[in-house]
Amino acid sequence: MKLFEPFQTDKFELKNHLVMPPMCMYQCKTQDGIPTDFHISHYGARAIGQVGMIIVEATGVQPNGRITDDCLGLWDDKQVDGHHKITKAIKNNGSFAAIQLNHAGRKSETKALRHVGPSAIPFNDQPLNYDELTFTEIQEVIASFKEAAKRADQAGYDGIEIHAAHGYLIHQFISPLSNTREDDYGKDRFLLLKEIMDAIKEVWPKEKGLWMRISATDYHEEGLSVEDWVQFLQENPNIVDFVHVSAGAIMTVPIHAYPGYMLELSKTIRENTGYQTIGVGLIQSAEMASFALESEQCDLVAIGRGLLRNPNLYLQFLNERGEKVPKYYERAFR
Ligand SMILES: Cc1cc2nc3c(=O)[nH]c(=O)nc-3n(C[C@H](O)[C@H](O)[C@H](O)COP(=O)(O)O)c2cc1C
Repeated sequence: MKLFEPFQTDKFELKNHLVMPPMCMYQCKTQDGIPTDFHISHYGARAIGQVGMIIVEATGVQPNGRITDDCLGLWDDKQVDGHHKITKAIKNNGSFAAIQLNHAGRKSETKALRHVGPSAIPFNDQPLNYDELTFTEIQEVIASFKEAAKRADQAGYDGIEIHAAHGYLIHQFISPLSNTREDDYGKDRFLLLKEIMDAIKEVWPKEKGLWMRISATDYHEEGLSVEDWVQFLQENPNIVDFVHVSAGAIMTVPIHAYPGYMLELSKTIRENTGYQTIGVGLIQSAEMASFALESEQCDLVAIGRGLLRNPNLYLQFLNERGEKVPKYYERAFR
């Protein structure tokens, strides 16, 4: 089964096709964005559980770009050492260490005095509680992504995932539901994403991975559709190494989530753009993951909640198909 085979790109190799997607843990209880023992153990445990690639949770590039005050950050050199401990815990146990860089924009719930977004449009029916970003502030956001990327490199990460999904700042710029600006960032709603990628590439080593997570649809007739993303990716064939295909969350709309419900979007991106993809969304078994890979719906499979419930999920998959698990855990599966 493909899930268990190595995955090779021109930049790196993973020992299998299983990815732990970014999942916020809200465990920076000192609210300084510095990783704690919790993060080191949490990610180290999934690496011991033989996950091929681990993408560390959404990490703020600015203090008010965090989702909550308890989220991780990389806006300050003081945060690098803690992230280095995470990458050591991941890499010393044979997994690939990546990090998701994020600015939450209008979805930030921190106690910061000022929250920002592309246009003065409230999220859902909540009162407007943020300001429209000025041109200068947009340049500061871009610079923050670049500085965070530099720190991610220093911390030993081998991959960066830019969070352009789930209704956070970059997605807010791209979606017509949240961006009605009349300047260049409104005329070309993808401009912020492109400028962030250009800035990161100035500092991020070419031999390391750089990709993005997208919401391939807003599930809204006036919002972004997968066709918008296909067109953008066709026009920008080398902007990233691959695309992590998720969906929704620019606003609250009911979603019918069934096993593998976002794989069709991944397949559409993959077939129409030539980009490799990470597929995600209620993938519940090794058989289902392998089917998604072998039927060419995606190139890597991410399992989120399954890996929260069970850090040794991959070992369970190995055992279920009669394969050896590492010696130290053999007795757990007898
Ligand atoms: C507790 C939790 C935190 C999450 N945090 C993030 C995050 O930081 N960044 C992100 O892109 N997605 C986040 N997600 C979404 C997951 O990465 C994943 O896409 C989602 O759980 C669907 O995959 P699954 O059905 O395998 O769990 C989070 C999900 C959960 C359950």
